[in-house]
Amino acid sequence: MMGKDVDKKWLETMQNQVIATIVKNNERYGALFPEPASKNLQYYFGENRQWTPSFWTGMQFLAYELTADEKFLTIIEKHLDSFDERLRNNIEMDNHDVGFYFSLSHIPAYEKLQRSASRQTIISAADKLLERYEPHSKILQAWGAIDDPSEQGRMIIDCNMNLFLLYKAFYLTGNQKYYDIAYGHIKKAQQYLVRDDYSTYHTYFFDVNSGKPLRGTTAQGYSDQSCWARGQAWAVYGFALNYQYTGDLSLLETAMKTADYFIEYLPEDYVPYWDLIFTEGKQYRDASAGAILVCGLLELVKVLPVTNKDRKKYEQVALAILYSLGENYTVKQEKSNGVLLHSVYSIPHDLGVDECCLWGDYFYFEALVSASTAWNSYW
Ligand code: GLY
Repeated sequence: MMGKDVDKKWLETMQNQVIATIVKNNERYGALFPEPASKNLQYYFGENRQWTPSFWTGMQFLAYELTADEKFLTIIEKHLDSFDERLRNNIEMDNHDVGFYFSLSHIPAYEKLQRSASRQTIISAADKLLERYEPHSKILQAWGAIDDPSEQGRMIIDCNMNLFLLYKAFYLTGNQKYYDIAYGHIKKAQQYLVRDDYSTYHTYFFDVNSGKPLRGTTAQGYSDQSCWARGQAWAVYGFALNYQYTGDLSLLETAMKTADYFIEYLPEDYVPYWDLIFTEGKQYRDASAGAILVCGLLELVKVLPVTNKDRKKYEQVALAILYSLGENYTVKQEKSNGVLLHSVYSIPHDLGVDECCLWGDYFYFEALVSASTAWNSYW
């Protein structure tokens, strides 16, 4: 998939820059994991904790696919052991991000490396995620202990990306419960997290006694009624991928409509502000949201027929964002061990503001790969 500026040579140059950063970090930190966001543009490396380490494993997989260099496999094997240990010892498993942990570690290990031992890990991890199922509202509770009253009944748009672990467990076992819970959750997300104008709430609460829908709120956006940029990106990519797992055409339509909304609010250089309430001025950008959006738009390009009237637009915008990110939002002269600059983790929590964020690095790299080859997705 090529554009005016994004050609084969440009993509290779950008991919090689990312690979060089991964190699340098591997040489220095071995199989340790970066923290979710850099501090003063430096990632600190440590144990497999929080919700983001598998993005680092995913980057090792992408580097391995591009280079076939066994040194990435050596790191991947250690990461896989670490995710097994995390599951076995129940370390920070009290959240829906269990989906992320395994979608970019044991799932590609099973599917790309034919590592048979990963099969059982995927199923056990899916069972862990199912513990978050709340039967009255029929959603997976996003955060916190399952009996924490302040978190009970909360679903979040990010969870669109955590459901593939359940679909994979359904394929591996034939057990319908995995599919039904994932599909039930995404339909609730479509109904309640997506507003009438196709912007999204970050989070939505249900009454866990009656299952009744209560209210939309934000955690990382500007306000309850504004549209958090990264949430909108999770919506586009997540609905597009859930369509692929279910064949439900209404999910494809929602992915397209949420993409259209996002595109309308992109600023002149195509890289979104952290909340779509902002379209110009001195507010912070969230380049990571731009990278996720590119992946979502490329997914739409893959699934839409060539006759679809919006397909060309999605392709052009995806490549325009990617070019802008590569040229103006990646580490060049800066002293940094990261890849993608100007991302934010959470402005309301004063976390990772205008820093590199690990998922931003991952999705930027995935976008470079996805735009250059017929790449078989990990998701
Ligand atoms: N899923 C957490 C985030 O996007 O910050």
